[in-house]
Amino acid sequence: MNDNKEITMDNFIPLSIPNFEGNEAKYVNKAIEEAWVSTGGAYITELEQNLARFLRVENVAACQSGTAALHLCLVEAGVKPGDAVIVPPLSFIASVNPVRYQFAEPIFIDVDDSLCIDPIKLEEFCKKECEQKDGKLYFNGRHIKALIAVHVFGNMADMEAIIDIAHKYNITVIEDAAEALGTKYTEGRYKGKYAGTIGDLGAYSFNGNQVITTGGGGAITARDPKVVDHLRFLSTQAKTDPHYYIHDEVGFNYRMTNLQAALGVAQMEELPEFLERKRRNYDYYVKLFEGFELGYIVPYRGGTESCKWLYSLAIDKGKIKASMRQIIAELEKRKIQTRAIWGLIHEQKPYRDCYTYIIEKAKHYGDCVLNLPSSTNITKEDIEYVAEQVKDVLKGFEQ
Ligand SMILES: Cc1ncc(COP(=O)(O)O)c(C=O)c1O
Repeated sequence: MNDNKEITMDNFIPLSIPNFEGNEAKYVNKAIEEAWVSTGGAYITELEQNLARFLRVENVAACQSGTAALHLCLVEAGVKPGDAVIVPPLSFIASVNPVRYQFAEPIFIDVDDSLCIDPIKLEEFCKKECEQKDGKLYFNGRHIKALIAVHVFGNMADMEAIIDIAHKYNITVIEDAAEALGTKYTEGRYKGKYAGTIGDLGAYSFNGNQVITTGGGGAITARDPKVVDHLRFLSTQAKTDPHYYIHDEVGFNYRMTNLQAALGVAQMEELPEFLERKRRNYDYYVKLFEGFELGYIVPYRGGTESCKWLYSLAIDKGKIKASMRQIIAELEKRKIQTRAIWGLIHEQKPYRDCYTYIIEKAKHYGDCVLNLPSSTNITKEDIEYVAEQVKDVLKGFEQ
């Protein structure tokens, strides 16, 4: 047990919290002073333009949340009741819930060591379990319209392989880049391309714990800029004529507010600095856990520059006699907030009846990953303290 550090509530080290070091208060106050607080206002357009410039795309639509962004993507992909959508089991449940908002059926396919959907199993599933008719792919009579590739913890899913499979079977690719703002390829076919801008549609989240935050919020982009215009139209109740309230489609109240966007514009100014810190802190954790015999920091995909949103320690559970709950509780006593990975989605009550394809790695990582404090304002000393305490706790529980 290490008790060198005097522990008070003040030095509790949280998992991932927002960082407002810039113009956040100034811009939010300006939006209030000017009384532009709702779904109209200059900050929304400014945020959309800044995101588009950063992501090197033509058009981005800002919306209420990552969940809303994903829902709109599914609507745009034409996912209808009775259709099927391929999803991974290892993600935040919001990656999958919008499939059910459309009364469609998720099909769960395992992840690989990147924690993202496994293209080898994906291809195997399409080849062995499905049938092709008129250029479309069917499973048990359901048309597989789309697949959702989640860039887990900011790690790029294997987009080259995923896109090839999707093209072969005519499946729309929706990227859930909620956690991956700033992740990009540095090599290969998509060199220079950002997560969320490679598939047909891409969704981002600006929830409180993401790379940047607008409190709650999200954004959508698409390969075709006109599609983004349509998504923006759907997000604002699909008003064909705003003055006379004419609506030709069913719309949603999913538009981001100017208050949220004010926060977002300030956060975008800091994004380069946040990314630098995320990457530097991750590298430091990797160094501190080098040679540790009870676990390793999960690596990010080669040939990419990840935003390194969250730092995961994969624990060698075979050598540890404690449950994840005990480990987390012990670290909490030492004023360190850590978290297990999500409960697997196909094991959650609403999804237990869904089809699953050879889920192995998701189970493995679901059992052994412990997420470590990853906020952009964490100090070097805090990282050292976390690494030291995590090692100490795990050694204390060694079999
Ligand atoms: C992978 C993933 N998808 C979707 C979401 C949903 O985003 P939001 O909370 O903004 O609705 C989140 C996180 O919050 C997420 O981590």
